Amino acid sequence: MNFTITLLPGDGIGPEVIAEAVRVLDVVAGKYNHRFNFIERLMGGCSIDRYGSSLTDETLADCQSADAVLLGAVGGPKWDDPAAKDRPERGLLALRKGLGVFANLRPVKVYPALADSSPLKPEQLQGVDILVVRELTGGLYFGQPKTRETMNGRVRAVDTLEYYDYEIRRVVELAFSLAKGRRKKVTSVDKANVLESSRLWRQIAAQVGGENPEVELEHTLVDTAAMRLITAPARLDVVVTENMFGDILTDEASVLAGSMGMLPSASLSESALGLYEPVHGSAPDIAGQGIANPLGAILSAALMLRHSFHLEREASSIENAVDAALNAGCRTADLGGTLSTRRMTDEIISRI
Ligand code: IPM
Ligand code: MG
Repeated sequence: MNFTITLLPGDGIGPEVIAEAVRVLDVVAGKYNHRFNFIERLMGGCSIDRYGSSLTDETLADCQSADAVLLGAVGGPKWDDPAAKDRPERGLLALRKGLGVFANLRPVKVYPALADSSPLKPEQLQGVDILVVRELTGGLYFGQPKTRETMNGRVRAVDTLEYYDYEIRRVVELAFSLAKGRRKKVTSVDKANVLESSRLWRQIAAQVGGENPEVELEHTLVDTAAMRLITAPARLDVVVTENMFGDILTDEASVLAGSMGMLPSASLSESALGLYEPVHGSAPDIAGQGIANPLGAILSAALMLRHSFHLEREASSIENAVDAALNAGCRTADLGGTLSTRRMTDEIISRI
C-alpha cells in the first residue's frame, strides 16, 4: 500500500531520531511491499529561524493532507525568551489543534531487560503495562482568556481551564474502547474535590462507564494518582485524564520505563490522520552528538503503522525487534550503554 507521511524533525535531537525512524520504515516498506512517501517540513524553533513562525499555514496544510505526521521534538534555549512573540511550543500546540488530535496515547511498558535502569525496585516494576490516554486539544493549554495585564501596579496572569462535555466524552469513550483490547480497567484521573471542570469530567466518565459495564472504572484524584503511579504501577491499565494532568503524569511514568527516550506516543483524531511523536523533548544538551536514544521515535513509527495505516503485522515487527535488541543487551547512553543512535537503529533493523 501507498502512504504519505509528513516528517517534522524539529529541533535538537529531533532530526537525529527521525532520520532513524525513517530508516526503519524504509526497511519495513521493502519487506512488506509498501510505499511510504516522505515530505519533510520545518516546525518549531527551526521554522521560527527560517520563516519567522513556528508553524506556517503551508506546513499545517501539508500535515493535514498527509496520511500521518511523524514529529521529532521542538524547542531549545535559543528560543526560550519569555518575551518572544512566538515559541516552538506554540507551533506544536497549533499543530495538535489544527489536526484535531484530541487523544494522546502514551503507552508505558517496562521491558524486563531494562528493569535496573529505573530507580524503582524491580519487584515494583513487574508486570507494568500502562496506557495513558491524555486529552490533548482542550483544558488549560487552550482555554480563553489567556492573558496578562497590569492593574494598579500589579501584574495579573490568567489561564483558563475549560472543558466541554463532548470533549470529555470522546476521549473517555476512546479510553474505554482501548481498555476492551487490554485488561479491561480504566482509571479516570481528575481533581473533582476542587475543580468544576473535573466534576464534569467525573460525571461523564461515570456515564461512559455505565454504558460499558464489561470495563471496570475507578476514579482517582490526580494527587493520589501521582503516588500510585510509583507505589503500585502494575495495578494500572488504561489511565484517562485531562491535558495538563496527563502531561505531568506521563513524565512521571517515564521513570518506570527506565528512560524518557523509550516512550512513543500516538495522537489520534476523529479520522485516520494521526500525529506520532516520541514523548521526550529536544534534549539540547546532547543534540548533534549522535548519542540520542532512537527507540521513542522508532516505536512512534510503529504506532503510526498500527493506528493510522492499520498495518498491525508491520507494527509488531518493529516492536518485536526492539524487544529482541534490548534482550540482547543493546543500549544507548541514557540506558547506561555505549551504542550510538545509528548503531542502535542498526540493531533494530537487523532484527526486523
Ligand atoms: C509534551 C510536551 C509538550 C506538552 C510541550 C513541549 C508543549 O511537554 O508533549 O508532553 O506539554 O504537551
Ligand atoms: Mg510533557
